[in-house]
Amino acid sequence: MSSDDRPEDDNPHLDRPLRSFGRIKARPIKPRQAALMDTLLPAIAVPDPRAGPLDPRAMMSEAKEVWLEIGFGGGEHMAAQAARRPDALVIGCEPFLNGVASALRHVEEGDLKNVRIHADDARDVVDALPDASVDRVLILFPDPWHKARHNKRRLLQDETAQAFARILKPGGTLRFVTDWLDYAEWALERLDRTPGLERIGAADQDWFVPPADHVVTRYEEKKLGDTTPVFLEFRRVD
Ligand SMILES: C[S@@+](CC[C@H](N)C(=O)[O-])C[C@H]1O[C@@H](n2cnc3c(N)ncnc32)[C@H](O)[C@@H]1O
Repeated sequence: MSSDDRPEDDNPHLDRPLRSFGRIKARPIKPRQAALMDTLLPAIAVPDPRAGPLDPRAMMSEAKEVWLEIGFGGGEHMAAQAARRPDALVIGCEPFLNGVASALRHVEEGDLKNVRIHADDARDVVDALPDASVDRVLILFPDPWHKARHNKRRLLQDETAQAFARILKPGGTLRFVTDWLDYAEWALERLDRTPGLERIGAADQDWFVPPADHVVTRYEEKKLGDTTPVFLEFRRVD
């Protein structure tokens, strides 16, 4: 059995969705970052979403907007966006602990007061957020799971697209970026058929043009996919 074909696939009794992420730890975490895991992470951690509903206002009462970045990797993009918009609460989710440790370093170095981190599966956070509570959902270069038998592990499924539509405020937006063409087509198909979501831009818009506020990510720089990045932007409509 390969590491991608886990027994959970066939276990109907597990309430967790299939894992949409790979490793949760790679190399040892550097001492300074390990210290931040012990000190800064507890201070800015999202309350346990499996313990009950989440209230973004309780995380940052003065926030003018609520943004959710799913799978922030090393956190460079999240930190850059949070620095640009100190009035927005930026909730970042990432189960890869080396990435979380790196993100904490960015939060500390940038003295960012508006970042909250969930060091685990974003789908738990999404499920715990109220309807119409989020202004932006950002999904940048999600794990491609591009072999057909692994497509079911993709983060973007009909169910998650519906959940994103549920938590977005009217007029709120969702950005999905990938450098795998079949994932772009897969995502477009599912987002297009999600009630309450409408694509921003003309249908023939050049989807290779990065939005003005895009920040190049570490994964993007690796150019591992089979296309230049594709940018999909959707808006929550009534
Ligand atoms: C290919 S990496 C891209 C990281 C980053 N966005 C970038 O562009 O550099 C995808 C990331 O998504 C994370 N991920 C996958 N499924 C997730 C989930 N359900 N919740 C939160 N993060 C997830 C993975 O752990 C991984 O770090």
